[in-house]
Amino acid sequence: FSLKQYNTFGIDVKAEAFISVTKLEDLRKVLKRSYASDLFILGGGSNMLLTGDIPKTVLHIALTGKEIISETEENVIIEAAAGENWHEFVMWTLDQDFGGLENLSLIPGNVGTSPIQNIGAYGVELKDSFVSCKAMHIQTLEEKEFSLEDCNFGYRNSVFKHDLKGEYIITSVRFRLTRKKHQLKVDYGSIISELEIKGITSPSIKDISNAVIAIRRSKLPDPAEIGNSGSFFKNPVIEKSQYEKLKAEYPNIPSYPISHTQVKVPAGWLIDTAGLKGYRDGDAGVHRNQALVLVNYGEASGNEILMLSKKVQETVYKRFGIHLEAEVNII
Ligand code: EPU
Repeated sequence: FSLKQYNTFGIDVKAEAFISVTKLEDLRKVLKRSYASDLFILGGGSNMLLTGDIPKTVLHIALTGKEIISETEENVIIEAAAGENWHEFVMWTLDQDFGGLENLSLIPGNVGTSPIQNIGAYGVELKDSFVSCKAMHIQTLEEKEFSLEDCNFGYRNSVFKHDLKGEYIITSVRFRLTRKKHQLKVDYGSIISELEIKGITSPSIKDISNAVIAIRRSKLPDPAEIGNSGSFFKNPVIEKSQYEKLKAEYPNIPSYPISHTQVKVPAGWLIDTAGLKGYRDGDAGVHRNQALVLVNYGEASGNEILMLSKKVQETVYKRFGIHLEAEVNII
C-alpha cells in the first residue's frame, strides 16, 4: 500500500497494510486485535519524513465530528475529533464567529496531531486556546483526558513528544474560543502590513485569517503542489554571548528574546544567509521563498531529503556554530 497520498512530503514508500478508522469503536477494535508494535499510527502526515518502507499496518486516524460542549456569554468550548482537517476546522470556527484560532489558519495536518507539537504561527500557539484532549492508550486501551498542565506544552513541544511518545492516540481535542469580544493578535509585523495594504483598520477574526492565509501562500509552498512538511527545523535558541558575537558580524540578524541569557534566532535566516535558499539536488530542495522549508519537487526519496537536511545542518554549523534540530519526525 503506497503512502504517497498520506504524507505531505509526497514520499512514495509502502506499508504492509492500511486501516482507516472513522469511529472510536473501530479504533478500539483494531487496537484490541493488534500488537502495538505491528501498528504505525498516522494522522495528517504533515510533520513526518518517511525514509523507507514501513513493515507494519498503518492505522490512519480518521475520526470525525465536532460539537459545541458549552457556551457562556464570552466563551464557547468546542470539541473536535482527531481526524478533522485542521484548516477546515479553523474555517468552521470562523464561520460561527468563534475567535482564537484565526492566526493558525492554513496549517496542514489534523486536529488530533495539533497538540503533539503544539502547532504555532504568527504569535499564537495551540496551547493558547487548548482546554484538554482525550486519548486512548495503544496497549491498555484506557481512555484518558489530558489537561493543559498534563500536556506540558512548549515551543513545538509537548508530553506526547517525550514522556508519552508513542503511547497514546489522541482521539479528540477541546478548545476554548471567544464569542463577540475577540482578542486579536496582530503584533506580528507582516499581519499589520497585510491589513494596511487592504486598508483594514478594525479587523475581524476573518480579516486576520485572510491576512495569515495571504502571507502563508506567498512564502510557504502548498503541499498539494510541492511536497513539504512546513518548517523542517526548529528555530534554535542560543546563548546571548554567542548572539552578540554574531550580531557584530551580521548586524541585521533577526532575533526574539527568550530570557535574560538566551535568544532565539530564525533558522530560515541562518540557512538563507549560508547561501542555501533555493538550493536543489535532484528533486530535493530548499524552498526558494522560505529557506526553513525543505521540498520534494516530485520524485525525491525520503533519504534524499534527509541527506539534504544533513547538508543544511552541516553548512549552518560551519558558518555560525549553531546546530539546527529537525522539527519534522524522521521515520
Ligand atoms: N528569513 C530569512 N530567509 C528565509 C526565511 C526567513 O531571512 O529564507 C527571516 C525572515 O525575514 C524573518 C525571520 O527569518 O526575519 C523569520 O521568518 P518567518 O517569519 O518566515 O518565520 P520562521 O521563524 O521562519 C516560524 C514557524 C512557522 C510559522 C512562522 C510564522 C518555526 C520552526 N516555524 O517560522 O511555522 O508559520 O514562524 O509564525 O517556528 C511550521 O512550523 O511548519 C511553520 C511553518
